[in-house]
Amino acid sequence: MLKVLVLGSAAGGGSPQWNCNSDVSIAVRDKEVGTSPRTQSSIAVTANGSDWFLFNASPDLGSQILNNKQMHPDKNFSRHSPISGVVLTNGDVDHVAGLLTLRERQDLAVYAHPRVHSVLKENSIFNVLNPDYVDRRELPMNKSFELLKKNGEGSDLVIEAFEVPGKIALWLEDESKGENFGTQEGDTIGLKISSKKDNKFFFYIPACAKMTDELSERIKECEMILFDGTLWKNDEMASKNVGEKTGQRMGHMNNSGEDGSMEALKDLKINKKIYIHINTTNPILLPSSDERKIVEENGWQVSYDGMEINL
Ligand code: MLT
Ligand code: MN
Repeated sequence: MLKVLVLGSAAGGGSPQWNCNSDVSIAVRDKEVGTSPRTQSSIAVTANGSDWFLFNASPDLGSQILNNKQMHPDKNFSRHSPISGVVLTNGDVDHVAGLLTLRERQDLAVYAHPRVHSVLKENSIFNVLNPDYVDRRELPMNKSFELLKKNGEGSDLVIEAFEVPGKIALWLEDESKGENFGTQEGDTIGLKISSKKDNKFFFYIPACAKMTDELSERIKECEMILFDGTLWKNDEMASKNVGEKTGQRMGHMNNSGEDGSMEALKDLKINKKIYIHINTTNPILLPSSDERKIVEENGWQVSYDGMEINL
């Protein structure tokens, strides 16, 4: 069995975003029927019902733990957390800042690509994660392995990480390094997350700049995918006057269009296709929008905070 809990379904900034007056941000602030606030990108998964791993740690982690009883400490102990560790898919603020919320002397295993570990190491605020309690472990690429708790016990969660097209974290971009701002392999990864006991699995890819033959071959015919839903169209932010950057510039493919994810995953025979990491400019967040209708007609679901999926 696998239990998946969506802690945060929005992209960086959340929805509403604090300084944004996109249609979606306004509708959510005005509590329009069918809309709801979305916190920043993260899921929690367990394969044994008691040990949960977070996949990305968002700046909203404190409220995400508060709002989801599965994340609460067991009342039989003076200190406890069902969270055994964290797996990071990149070094973006929306995926790592929540590590600082996990600093209160609790055993944890943190798995990340060496590139991400090195930026956490260079950034001394993360030294608040006491190494007596928090083990930083290298996440190997293209190798399936069981996530272990800090004490070495198994979690029954097996993962395999693989590189996907993407870019270096926004706060590490270096314009002097040319068109890709210093992006290296491993800056953006996707994950296959499986249950050791019954081999149920799904894919979690919250950032992906484009579909490749290798990636479509890897994900085809699976039961479920949680996939980058950042933008409906590439120039969405400019067309709404809330920013200049295109989706491609940010390392995200659109939902719509010839080069979009709906088209790219159309014939891959994936049973449950779910958008996650959705930007507050994306009209699919409005339940009555044409765009929501189109993604649903194409077999996609739009994730929301607190969504639970059992495989
Ligand atoms: C992204 O996914 O493009 C980043 O999270 C942007 C950000 O850091 O806000
Ligand atoms: Mn992001």
